[in-house]
Amino acid sequence: MLQDFIRDGYVEVDIDDSTLHNNINDKLSAHENPIPRNDGLIESVPELSAIIDHPNVVSALKTLLGDSYIQHPHKEVFLDNNWSNTNPHRDWSSYYSVGHNILGKKAVSYFNYWNLHHHCRCLQVFYYPVSIPDTKRGTIFIPESQYYNSIDGVAYYYREPFRMRGSGKVVIAHQDLFHMTIKPKNRVEIPRFVVKFVFLRSEEPKVNSQGTPKASWSGIYNDDVYNYHWDWYRGVSYKFPSYTESYTDTLENEITNTRELINLIYAMGGSSDVGTVIDHIMRIKKEKTLPREEVLSHMLALMDSTSDIVSKINEGIIWDKRAAFIDILANKGEYVSNWLEWLSSEKSPYCLGNLCYGTPLLFSGNVDALNLVVKRFKDRDVFGRGINRVLLKAIISILKLSKTCGVIPDIESEINELCMSGSDPYLNIFAKHVKKKWF
Ligand SMILES: [Fe+2]
Repeated sequence: MLQDFIRDGYVEVDIDDSTLHNNINDKLSAHENPIPRNDGLIESVPELSAIIDHPNVVSALKTLLGDSYIQHPHKEVFLDNNWSNTNPHRDWSSYYSVGHNILGKKAVSYFNYWNLHHHCRCLQVFYYPVSIPDTKRGTIFIPESQYYNSIDGVAYYYREPFRMRGSGKVVIAHQDLFHMTIKPKNRVEIPRFVVKFVFLRSEEPKVNSQGTPKASWSGIYNDDVYNYHWDWYRGVSYKFPSYTESYTDTLENEITNTRELINLIYAMGGSSDVGTVIDHIMRIKKEKTLPREEVLSHMLALMDSTSDIVSKINEGIIWDKRAAFIDILANKGEYVSNWLEWLSSEKSPYCLGNLCYGTPLLFSGNVDALNLVVKRFKDRDVFGRGINRVLLKAIISILKLSKTCGVIPDIESEINELCMSGSDPYLNIFAKHVKKKWF
């Protein structure tokens, strides 16, 4: 199953319980509009808990996200007469605010499938209570589109799309997978419900015995791509294939397009001359269309560069480069001795947000690390307008670390305050989720 998921970007799970599915469908049909989202959805239709707690679903989530996965608070019901979802699209990064990008700009994971942000730390779970077999309606998933190099919403069908429409089916999909609704021919047909849940990985894959991958992946990409993700799931550091040519001469003069630049940078990823490459990237003229820090991070993530990055941070580089470098280190998953020191003293909200994001990736099960994130979460006065960025990253980090440490931290009064605040809707949803879960 894991190998199919790595290639296709989704798996389908069956729940054989027609009484449960009919019951859920009846309740959704009878509910007045709009059907509430998030925890309100479960309060209205408590039977939905039986879906996400079903052994087949739990087993699949554990395989794909690890045993310590957690549920994201976002929960929502869609009807297929919702016309806005009828184009191929991705939800991640625009939708949940769990999608991580370095400086709050558009995530550039989409430009190249080697990106560490493509590693699967977030899953969407789609559930159909009933089937409508006589029509072509349904939710379409485009296999392997999690690797597409596009942010513009245009999806190309390199492989036959998968249509989900059967009763009791659950599709578990990669955060970056393109999907869409096939709308009914007219609006008078009985609406078909699809319920969506989101789950997060709370720690990086451990070194384990997943075995060797398929001899051939039979996908649309080079097998290196699938092996790269497979190795991450096995807790093995992937050795980036060296496609290196002599690119450094052209780098500063001829590249004006982000996609070209990122592909070039990845091509340089096999270089062993880390210092020279860092210096070249740092000298690229900074323009809106060339997100230098993100590009840099993507490349360095693939190189044997941890000590070079740590020394740059300790040299006191400015905040935007520091934020990018912190992000690289977290996603590389390599132990960094200075990390907790940075976490306790960082003064930039972008950098602290990235430190919060990265701490569960590096310090799973570490109570000292959890306590430090909690301390910074309580530091309300320090960050001015950047405070919500820090709080959102910190609250997700606390949820993950709490899960792996088995400790519920003392943050009830701060959570209560955020539940009352409307300054950031996502923060408010997370705070309510935490309150319901812990206090
Ligand atoms: Fe969607």
